[in-house]
Amino acid sequence: MSINEKIDIVRREVDNLNAEARTADQLMQGITVVLNQHMLKYNWVGFYMLEAGANPPMLVLGPFRGAMTPHTRIALHQGICGAAASSGKTVVVDDVKKDPRYLACSLETQSEIVVPIFVRGRVAGELDIDSHFLAAFGNEDRELIEYCAMLVGKRLESA
Ligand code: SME
Repeated sequence: MSINEKIDIVRREVDNLNAEARTADQLMQGITVVLNQHMLKYNWVGFYMLEAGANPPMLVLGPFRGAMTPHTRIALHQGICGAAASSGKTVVVDDVKKDPRYLACSLETQSEIVVPIFVRGRVAGELDIDSHFLAAFGNEDRELIEYCAMLVGKRLESA
């Protein structure tokens, strides 16, 4: 099966989840399970959400699949997670060893992608994925993960 066929199947699963989930939290839980189970290089899949009313702003660990991380709270000036949330842009790191921003979650992680989630045009959180493989996130992966983040943002907007 090609990567595009695989991604099409996962996209349909995510659409089904979106149709069935009653809350944003259920949708987020479901996305972590589907991405972690079907995308074999997505070894840690989790959400960080901006804490309501926190000053300074703080990302707080939400639903995730994979090993427990020491980073349950991340300030916006810290890590790849902070970089994605503060810039409002997807960050793809092909080799975390070469990125001084990287906060280690697991010794096995080699590459990472973090995609912001927007609610009414403002960053509300992000979807973070770590891989045990170098450069695991190509354009097709990025589009899939951005699609998942968009669905969560829309769901939060209607909450
Ligand atoms: N690596 C992230 C921290 C979160 S863990 O990957 C789960 C970062 O650099 O922000």
